[in-house]
Amino acid sequence: MSCDVCEDLQEVDAIVDRWGRNPEFAIEMMQDVQDRFRYLPRAGLERMSELTGTDMGRLYHIATFFKAFSLKPRGEIEVQVCTGTACHVRGAARVLDAFGRELDVKPGETTGDLKFSLSGVRCLGCCSLAPVVTMGADLLGDVDSSKVRRLVEKYRRTAGTPGKEGADA
Ligand code: FES
Repeated sequence: MSCDVCEDLQEVDAIVDRWGRNPEFAIEMMQDVQDRFRYLPRAGLERMSELTGTDMGRLYHIATFFKAFSLKPRGEIEVQVCTGTACHVRGAARVLDAFGRELDVKPGETTGDLKFSLSGVRCLGCCSLAPVVTMGADLLGDVDSSKVRRLVEKYRRTAGTPGKEGADA
């Protein structure tokens, strides 16, 4: 077991302790673990299972049921391309393709440097801005495929800088 894993498990212990090791709060604990590590590491789930007495099968069921959870490492910046009807009509598929080419990943995948994860998502509720993309906490409207390269470069520069997800790049 490497030191990183030891430290990570200490953080999992702290999260589980914050929720009183109560299995009724398994989802909340998993949200905190996911927030911390950007995914649910297997070792972390095993530790949760051990400390709360929750069956691993139940934790896996929760992890796979909720789309917000990931069992694989996710990128620092989540790129979500809306593929809802309004965005689709205005070229969302081309935007999603362009991100895929630029990042060299398919939807659902994460770049090798763990900077970006790409996904297509349902209507984000702001159809008048179509096509809509979110990059981290930023919601961007009227994104066409010709803007994708510049956006990726801009966000790549600011990745790793807390609070600077492309906002002032
Ligand atoms: S369809 Fe894209 S925001 Fe509604």
